[in-house]
Amino acid sequence: MSAADSKEIFFNTIVYANSMRFSKRTDDLMDSFIMKLIAVSKEEGMISFATGLPDKRLFDTEGIARASADLFEDIDRARDALQYGTIKGITPLRKKIAARCRKEMCVNVSEENIFMINGSQECFDLIGKMFIDRGDGMVTDDPGYLGALQAYSLYGPEFIGVKMNETGPDAGELRKALQRDPKLYYSIPNHQNPSGFSYSSDKRKEVAELISSSNTIMIEDDAYGELGYDGRIGPPVRSMTDNVILTGSYSKIISPGMRMGWMIVPDEMIEMTMKCVESSSLHANTFSQNVMDRYLEQNDLDSYLRNIRKEYKRKSKLMLDLLHDNLPSELEWNTPNGGMFIWLRTPEGTDAMRLYESALKKKLVVMPGRPFHINGGVNTIRLNFATAGDEEIKEGAKRLASAYNGLF
Ligand SMILES: Cc1ncc(COP(=O)(O)O)c(C=O)c1O
Repeated sequence: MSAADSKEIFFNTIVYANSMRFSKRTDDLMDSFIMKLIAVSKEEGMISFATGLPDKRLFDTEGIARASADLFEDIDRARDALQYGTIKGITPLRKKIAARCRKEMCVNVSEENIFMINGSQECFDLIGKMFIDRGDGMVTDDPGYLGALQAYSLYGPEFIGVKMNETGPDAGELRKALQRDPKLYYSIPNHQNPSGFSYSSDKRKEVAELISSSNTIMIEDDAYGELGYDGRIGPPVRSMTDNVILTGSYSKIISPGMRMGWMIVPDEMIEMTMKCVESSSLHANTFSQNVMDRYLEQNDLDSYLRNIRKEYKRKSKLMLDLLHDNLPSELEWNTPNGGMFIWLRTPEGTDAMRLYESALKKKLVVMPGRPFHINGGVNTIRLNFATAGDEEIKEGAKRLASAYNGLF
């Protein structure tokens, strides 16, 4: 027996002996591709338009350093920041979020309804845990945010897709879907991931009416709400009806690495959320909460946001102009008014996965749109203009054009 043979037998034996008896629940767990694409994006020479990463050049490293140093200037405060905390999170930060909700979003909420969570991604898992039994109906934008769908998928809902248009969900389809009495409706009204589409103001009212006359709880994901290029584009659905869990995050504006999100829950959910957060993580990262709170004390969030918004507006225009100059007219895309994404459509009947593969050979990674869909979406691609620098955007647009050339 050669060394290679013995290694193979040994390896197979180990695999057999360790074959994992995972729960039935994991059979339903979707693959999100997100972390895989982040890994591919880091390969030498690769340009990435693929992920949802914000522009790291915009992180206020000095400001965060000052906030951390300030925290350590008061030894009692520093010790508390390094200690276990309370389930809902630290009160000063929750109060700041509540005040901003009241002032900027017309959402009349107190800190009592706010839970700090380790990123809004974890909110989706907690909500799945609290609400979804296998086979329960769950309505979602179609396309919808893949990371959230992955989190819910672990609990085995039956997804019901409602077409997401440039002005929000198709109201007829949503009405029909709600007649099936689903437990949850997950949607992103502002600068949606993946499409960049946003609800019109009429659509906000229409959705609020539909939700308030149903038994369905809406999960309103506001991850990009602060990234409207000319400011917030409209009040959340939560400002018009209470049947909503509103999730938010500092990831897209300050730092995703700090894992700082929150959820605002209806009164009747507070007790159950307490139990579920405690059983999952005890509480969100106390250190990050304290640094974030110091940071928001020391800096004016509005002027900080003005700068970020301006920069993303500039970068979106840069990419839009390049697409216009480099791509043939049979391709279509939208002009976003906030957020980080452009939604590209190859001609009807073509498979955009081929463009993804062709681009990869040219060292450009883009995100195929199909995995975001419940139905269809074969001819779609999501482009992120936030992560890359200007030169990479310019070179990437050229690679995209040459990857497309002669493909269909
Ligand atoms: C729409 C949307 N919601 C939520 C998240 C998760 O964000 P967080 O970092 O707060 O977990 C993302 C991340 O890309 C997102 O695009």
